[in-house]
Amino acid sequence: MQADIEIFSLIQDEFNRQQHGLELIASENFTSEQVMRAMGNVMTNKYAEGYPGKRYYGGCEVVDKSEQLCIDRAKAIFNVEFANVQPHSGAQANAAVMLALLKPGDKILGLDLSMGGHLTHGSAVNFSGKLYQPLFYGVRKEDGLVDYDMMEKIALEEKPKLIICGASAYSRDWDYVRVRAIANKINALVLCDMSHPAGLIAKGLLNSPFEHCHIVTSTTHKTLRGPRGGIILMKTDFENPMGLTNPKGEIRMMSDLLNLAVFPGTQGGPLEHVIAAKAVAFHEIMQDDFMSYSKQVVANAKAMEIAFKELNYDIISGGTDNHLLLIDLRNKNISGKKAENTLVKADITINKNMVPFDDKSPFITSGIRVGVPAITTRGLKENDMKTVVHWIDSILMNTENEQNIAKVKGEINEFMNQFTLYPNWKI
Ligand SMILES: Cc1ncc(COP(=O)(O)O)c(C=O)c1O
Repeated sequence: MQADIEIFSLIQDEFNRQQHGLELIASENFTSEQVMRAMGNVMTNKYAEGYPGKRYYGGCEVVDKSEQLCIDRAKAIFNVEFANVQPHSGAQANAAVMLALLKPGDKILGLDLSMGGHLTHGSAVNFSGKLYQPLFYGVRKEDGLVDYDMMEKIALEEKPKLIICGASAYSRDWDYVRVRAIANKINALVLCDMSHPAGLIAKGLLNSPFEHCHIVTSTTHKTLRGPRGGIILMKTDFENPMGLTNPKGEIRMMSDLLNLAVFPGTQGGPLEHVIAAKAVAFHEIMQDDFMSYSKQVVANAKAMEIAFKELNYDIISGGTDNHLLLIDLRNKNISGKKAENTLVKADITINKNMVPFDDKSPFITSGIRVGVPAITTRGLKENDMKTVVHWIDSILMNTENEQNIAKVKGEINEFMNQFTLYPNWKI
């Protein structure tokens, strides 16, 4: 068989891009070499529909052990009774939860996409907005914080079956106690999608949703620093209060409904190689190094907040409690799109982002989202954040100055060379 030179040279190009650039996309990170090793191996060959000990295929003795290890580690990290580690992604995890909890047409209440929510929390272009009846709360205009009063008002008026908290572009912690109190008034269930801050929650650096939210979903590739994928967690199992049943009409415990909703409800065979890699990431999270890493993420985000404020950037909600910043660029007279496209020329990757009450379309946007999980993994510290912010500012204040862009790019490439990415990289 001929080697696939085209694809492998593209993989090398992508390695070079990652090595040289400043990765500031808030949802990205660099997994460890052992996480990548766990992902690229013979486990990809195995079909294992079902769950450990209850599979529809023979030869699952080994993957049973590795999936069980992954489940046990997830349960230990978050101190929960239930974990399903099979969702192929965060979106798949949310789809499975909704399939388990809801009937088509049921009302769901989530944070508006344009205010920081995620597509799977009810957007009209997503299954969640097509199959269910979406309602949205937002953030307050005056301070950019989640408007829990609005959440409560809509909840009392509309009585959604499910309230979703968690976001893709929100830099503050959540009041899970308040969300649960609102849900209790209307007997709604609460889903927390902690995809973004999960790693900080794992280490106790942010409020824990588990005592208050019935079900918690997450991606595994953001602040958890694992392979791309999803998980579903639950602190304590309970008999589902909506009287939902399995196809035979039996009332089930929530754990059964969630497992059935992942397989066979929304997925076929699990990705056992990715599950092995999730297990490796969880092993890393259980170690002290990950606590230092997570604390550094928070410290770096804070340092970046201060540096941006010194240059008069308008940070939504006035700052950050977690790993990201949402910046309104309207006072700088530049759109999010222009900022993203110009910064990338200097090997700085961020994403354009709607800001609350944005007057521009999602394709243009008034803001950018900036996150530090990936550069923190590379080894950058608080002192470096000022340099990073000055590079960003220099580009944004001179978007047509190609000479300056080239100069900054050169500085960044040289700087990032100190922080070796994957010392044992070999393709
Ligand atoms: C809050 C939230 N939920 C779900 C997802 C979806 O995750 P995935 O891209 O793995 O489907 C994301 C991804 O950005 C997210 O931010």
